[in-house]
Amino acid sequence: MTSGSLIAADLVIAVLAAAGWLGGGATAAARRRPLALGLATFALVATLARAITIVALARAGWWFAAEKILIAAPLSLAAVVVAGPRLLRAPRDIRSVAVPLLFAGYAVSSALLVTVLHGYPASAGAGLLAVAGVAAATAVTWRVLGPRPSGTVSRTVLAVGVAALVTGTGLAVAPNPASGVPHDHDYPDTRTVGEPTRRVTLTAGTTTVNVSGRAVAAWAFNGQVPGPELTATVGDVLEVTLRNRDIERGVTLHWHGYDVPNSQDGVPGITQEAVLPGQEFVYRFTADQVGTYWYHTHSVSDVGVRMGLYGVLVVRPAPATGVDVTVPVHTLAGLPLPEPTTEPIEAGTPVRLRLINTDSTTHRYALAGTSFRVAAIDGYDLHGPTPLVDTAVLIPAGGRYDLVFTAPAAPVALFVDGRAVYSTGPVSTATGEWPALDPLTYGASSPVPFSRFDKRFDLVLDRGLDLHGLLPRYAHTVNGAADPDIPPQVVRLGDVVKFTIVNRSLVVHPWHLHGHHVLVLSRDGRPAIGSPLWLDSFDVRPGEVWEVAFRADNPGVWANHCHNLPHADAGMMTHLMYE
Ligand code: C2O
Ligand code: CU
Repeated sequence: MTSGSLIAADLVIAVLAAAGWLGGGATAAARRRPLALGLATFALVATLARAITIVALARAGWWFAAEKILIAAPLSLAAVVVAGPRLLRAPRDIRSVAVPLLFAGYAVSSALLVTVLHGYPASAGAGLLAVAGVAAATAVTWRVLGPRPSGTVSRTVLAVGVAALVTGTGLAVAPNPASGVPHDHDYPDTRTVGEPTRRVTLTAGTTTVNVSGRAVAAWAFNGQVPGPELTATVGDVLEVTLRNRDIERGVTLHWHGYDVPNSQDGVPGITQEAVLPGQEFVYRFTADQVGTYWYHTHSVSDVGVRMGLYGVLVVRPAPATGVDVTVPVHTLAGLPLPEPTTEPIEAGTPVRLRLINTDSTTHRYALAGTSFRVAAIDGYDLHGPTPLVDTAVLIPAGGRYDLVFTAPAAPVALFVDGRAVYSTGPVSTATGEWPALDPLTYGASSPVPFSRFDKRFDLVLDRGLDLHGLLPRYAHTVNGAADPDIPPQVVRLGDVVKFTIVNRSLVVHPWHLHGHHVLVLSRDGRPAIGSPLWLDSFDVRPGEVWEVAFRADNPGVWANHCHNLPHADAGMMTHLMYE
């Protein structure tokens, strides 16, 4: 069983246990004896069964089980100790066990709420609030259902409840020690930029574009979705003038995966102000990285990218030879882009397909009709990629894969989620059952270039209640906090930094660090044994633990976030910051 399914199973069992105790208590109060006994017995078994899932999760990593061991287990134990024996003695008057059964229900439910609303790390505040909730609910139930508790008992319950409530609330709403990210830092550009050799102007504006015969409202660069494809040869100096015609919420250009100097990174509020209607901003940087990249707005990026403010950036080592095409996949107003193209290619021609995922969720790409190699991922060439046949690749949000092959005589087709997007002729292969490539085991390995880590950070991804904003929200969290309350990862120039990224949630989080590529060390404790993988975007699936490392060689304040952009917008955004 994967950790992801363990997390889900544990949640389901906890819900069943809570429902069983509460249902047992309610039916006992209604004197429905057989039903009450049945439900309570079921709840008892479910509560005990959680011991198994909690232990299994703890073995997968403390992050997955911390609050379950520290808060849920004691509360469940209390539930079993209070309700269990009374249940076994099952008195004639079943109504007399209603309060103990309901108490068990409150205890198990509040433990569940701690997991769902708070998660990792377990905090004293959350534990105390859970206890307060149980005490309050039990006290009320007792009053309603009688027999009236003795004065000492009710005073004790009241005192426990009030004390837990006051302390818990105090701890929970105490201002977060997390400093915001200071914006007044200046990181002088140490990399000099020569005279521009390529100049482009991108004008952002609202428009209507035609997709598969339908007129679709979009936000576009130069009136087209995707925006103009920017190409350069390594060593070029790019100068891109961004103008905003009428995007009220502002625009910027972020060079996704391109490790530009910080001042050119295009993150509003961090590296520049958003460019408002009528304004412009000039980006200038040297094309010193070869490969497949893309650009997109980082201002309300959740909406802006979805509406069409993105385009391709390709830097080649030399002018392209053979067939070299980019396939930037996107979903615009529910319609898939690009529209299918078919162009015959002469047999023997070298072909490079640059696959780009500009959406917020993973896409599955399958190349039929030829064997191929994955030559590069996220712009970085792989070592010793071997030929693949009938194998799909899963590209995370923001990620890029370059597939290369020599055109065969028969037609070839690229399918994205089962839809033919690019082909050289008719191909009718079913690709749905193909296995997916695991890049961690693909290609030839070489030793990890880091022997020590100067800084280590754990990033635990989850959901949780965020009370620090104007309105409470159910945020996507990192280490129990949501942007802007997540402490930045502070490093020094030259540090070798290790991130351990843990997904405790039930959804995929495509992780993306700006300004650096990270080397994958391991996933779920198993070392990466294929070609060194230097990534800027990778899917951390539910229950997965990724270890990645990089050298801090690009000073600045860098966004470090989930590239499922609605998640980033809902709190899952942190920053890497140089001292
Ligand atoms: Cu492609 Cu911060 O993003
Ligand atoms: Cu996410």
